[in-house]
Amino acid sequence: MVRVVDVKKDYHVGKTVVNALRGVTLEVKEGEFISIAGPSGSGKTTLLNLIGCLDKATEGEIFIDDEAVAEKNKKELALLRRRKLGFVFQSFNLIPVLTAYENVSFSLSLLGLSDREIRDRTMKILEEVGLGGLERRFPAELSGGQQQRVAIARALVKEPELVLADEPTANLDSKTGKDILELMAGLNEKHEITFIFSTHDPMVMDFARRLVLLHDGRIVEEKSREA
Ligand SMILES: Nc1ncnc2c1ncn2[C@@H]1O[C@H](COP(=O)(O)OP(=O)(O)OP(=O)(O)O)[C@@H](O)[C@H]1O
Ligand SMILES: [Mg+2]
Repeated sequence: MVRVVDVKKDYHVGKTVVNALRGVTLEVKEGEFISIAGPSGSGKTTLLNLIGCLDKATEGEIFIDDEAVAEKNKKELALLRRRKLGFVFQSFNLIPVLTAYENVSFSLSLLGLSDREIRDRTMKILEEVGLGGLERRFPAELSGGQQQRVAIARALVKEPELVLADEPTANLDSKTGKDILELMAGLNEKHEITFIFSTHDPMVMDFARRLVLLHDGRIVEEKSREA
């Protein structure tokens, strides 16, 4: 589903070059629940942004469903993101003036569905992430964990093949973080959606079925365990 082949990413800051990724090769299969772990600055966000087609690699290739991302133009990439990918961010990134319901249904309105279908799918996913009855609340009227549930519902309502989550539990207390991970793991099993999430939290790493450890822009260790 995702193939990352010897990918390098440099950032230029004034005259200095930061080698954020120094040759990363990784294959992620359909239905995996995989964690990209590593200390601050190791390249986790950079890698997720490249897989999410939010940025381009300096060298190397990335394939999503065997399609080379580098060969696509901006419009094709936007379409690919809209059709196949869902994003969950550390800081939730909800739109403050929209209710929970509107934050979720908004992303469906771009897909050309009927009003009825939008309503049914939005209510179903909000129920599924445990937010039934809270759909009229604004983000500021929800707890951190509830806001992240809205963000997960927003990512999933489009029925993406792949969800990319950058430190989805970093702004949550450990109990709430665990609930969110259990929710993601359940959705992964039930809908066979592939999840790639980053973290530097050992509790979160324990949750993954497969762990890829980054250090200084390189993969230094990989671990797998049976579900
Ligand atoms: N837009 C940017 N411009 C310049 N340098 C950047 C940029 N984004 C990241 N970097 C640098 O690239 C390296 C990798 O950063 P990245 O954000 O991918 O790390 P991370 O593992 O996600 O860290 P954290 O755990 O703190 O989120 C770091 O040295 C960082 O300073
Ligand atoms: Mg990061």
